[in-house]
Amino acid sequence: MDTSPPIEKVGPDHRAELPVAVVSKTVPFENVHVLTQTPQLIALLTIIRDKKTERADFIFYSNRIIRLLVEEGLNHLPTVEHTVTTPVDRKYDGLSFEGKICGVSIMRAGEAMEQGLRDCCRSVRIGKILIQRDEETTLPKLFYDKLPEDIANRWVLLLDPMFATGGSACMAVEVLISRGVPAERILFLNLIASPQGVGKFAEKFPNVKVVTAFIDEGLDEKKYIIPGLGDFGDRFYTM
Ligand code: URA
Repeated sequence: MDTSPPIEKVGPDHRAELPVAVVSKTVPFENVHVLTQTPQLIALLTIIRDKKTERADFIFYSNRIIRLLVEEGLNHLPTVEHTVTTPVDRKYDGLSFEGKICGVSIMRAGEAMEQGLRDCCRSVRIGKILIQRDEETTLPKLFYDKLPEDIANRWVLLLDPMFATGGSACMAVEVLISRGVPAERILFLNLIASPQGVGKFAEKFPNVKVVTAFIDEGLDEKKYIIPGLGDFGDRFYTM
């Protein structure tokens, strides 16, 4: 199997010599959507991956990618036909969103994605789930959750920027399903995923949609995504 990173020329077609960059891996799962690998997205990811990028820039450029993820996530929600009359008295046959939504962030890094969701969906309700490694069993354990009480009737945008082993994401989806949310109404948004995490998740939850900006090479021995960007929560909140 070829494990070398996928390298592509990235840029507008009119340039004779396009720069090359490593782009996202592809995976054979219909429920996994990788954002189009545009020069803009690759340049934004390059900034947040750089260990020299300082916190203010890390926050600013992460927020730009989060915005792209939320906008793409919203494309997967149902719409209905909706006709309006314009100020020049003509009809326009368009669309409107159907159904209620909410966000659920996996603490703490997922909370960094809440503002991006609020920027697109005014006064959206946001629940929280805290999952941590149980030091005795080393397995992920649910420590806390606070979810909208009518969550079973909503579409859920699940937020966690780094999709590493998939352990927390799988447990978060299990919590949502146990509260009555159908798998088809869950959309998991993340910035960087590992092929291992995506594979495990897609096999377990083939009906949960994943929207990610990039599928990276893999995981290191400490289960950090490589090349990755380090600890997202530390870089966003404390470094
Ligand atoms: N969480 C992070 O913040 N980074 C990783 O690489 C993996 C999990």
